[in-house]
Amino acid sequence: MTTLITPRGAPMTTNRPLRPIVGVITADDSPRLLYRTDGGAWIVANHDPFMRAFGDAAIASILRAEYATGRDGLRALVAAGDYFDPNAPAEVEAADRTLRSTTVSLYRLPVDGDTDEISDAALQELLTAVATTAGDPMRAERAAAELTAPVAAPTVVCQAHAHLDRPRFEPIDLPGGGQYWPRTLFDTSDVAFLRELRAGGSMHARLSGPPGSGKTTLVDAAFGEDIICVQGHPDLTVASLYGQYLPGEPGSGTAWRWVDGPAVRAAREGKVLLIDEANRAPRDVDDALLSLTDKRRQIINADRPDLPPVTAADGFMVVVSYNHSDIGIRPLSASLLRRLSMHVRVDTDYGVAARLGVGDDLLQVAENLRTSGRRYGIDHDCEPAWYPQLADLEGAEAMRRHGPQAMFGPLTASATEPARVRDTARVFASVFGTVVTEIAELGPSN
Ligand SMILES: Nc1ncnc2c1ncn2[C@@H]1O[C@H](COP(=O)(O)OP(=O)(O)OP(=O)(O)O)[C@@H](O)[C@H]1O
Ligand SMILES: [Mg+2]
Repeated sequence: MTTLITPRGAPMTTNRPLRPIVGVITADDSPRLLYRTDGGAWIVANHDPFMRAFGDAAIASILRAEYATGRDGLRALVAAGDYFDPNAPAEVEAADRTLRSTTVSLYRLPVDGDTDEISDAALQELLTAVATTAGDPMRAERAAAELTAPVAAPTVVCQAHAHLDRPRFEPIDLPGGGQYWPRTLFDTSDVAFLRELRAGGSMHARLSGPPGSGKTTLVDAAFGEDIICVQGHPDLTVASLYGQYLPGEPGSGTAWRWVDGPAVRAAREGKVLLIDEANRAPRDVDDALLSLTDKRRQIINADRPDLPPVTAADGFMVVVSYNHSDIGIRPLSASLLRRLSMHVRVDTDYGVAARLGVGDDLLQVAENLRTSGRRYGIDHDCEPAWYPQLADLEGAEAMRRHGPQAMFGPLTASATEPARVRDTARVFASVFGTVVTEIAELGPSN
């Protein structure tokens, strides 16, 4: 027996098989569904736009379009407009771009018999659900995979971390306290490599990787007090990087004073400009960095034509950090990517985690999930499914004295897909020998 949350929010139980159906609201505000029939066709269903134009979705009839491949079904699901033509390269490209940043919702619908026969009424109910309730949010590829194989990403039981390498390098004191254990990068340590890059004077770097993998801490360890850091966020402007007029100091007699921005200060002083989470900032920020990061190494501020261009001093370097899959991110521009030519993918070294006191059991859970997560990425040609990073493991370890249930929440804190949290609960239960709920519950003690 399975409990479902219906579109109206009321729980309902069913013994019928549950068919996964993916829903999304597209750019033009219309809910759309993707499902796979027993015959293997991929169907995208939505309200008839002609009927919707009359403003009454309730009486709208349902349109079903059939696609031969799951990929085209997915593209149609997220495409703008009501029709998608798999033979139009521009439409395919636009849909692929959307797919890379889209989260969709997976719903499970009880269906009797053949999925070729799903009724309009059932689809109508699902379309309402897409528009009004949340299913399990997940990346589109993953949701599509669930349609063909309605099972979670495989879990693989592997050895505990007997093979984990001990850290090769001595720890480095971090400016704010604590220690950083360098990881191996090429033939040296990550810290030594970044420092060498800066000393070379001609290359800039980008560090990508999942939350909590140690991107920011790596830059901190490498450059300490020499960093000028800017946090990427949607309201960041070119003025907040280059400089702006601010109210004068009280009593100074000037109403306004010019204050250089962090990019100008870092360039003048030969420091490292760290744009943390750069892909949360608007595209203008990419453009503002272009002249600084190419051979010119200059800032020409169009708002201050009276000032000479600022040329970067020796030691200046830009480092950008970002993660590939999260809410509210965008792709960095190709022009900026070309200039930040040293791209390092940052991932947790579980050997470092062991050195920091993370227990064998947690490391075994983490390794299982990393194996299945990476395999999932390879099989589906997408980013790996979530697996724990150092921040997650440290959080879980800190709760050890309160028992496995208390450890589970911090362990999965950065996992955004409920299906992956369930995978983790299964692996966790098999390693710890105890079942945990996905969220800790506070309630009466009996
Ligand atoms: N090699 C390491 N040695 C010691 N501690 C580390 C190391 N790498 C990461 N950490 C610790 O892991 C935690 C997460 O690191 P950090 O904040 O740098 O991750 P991040 O990748 O920048 O995450 P986000 O994308 O969320 O900003 C921090 O507590 C940090 O001190
Ligand atoms: Mg960070």
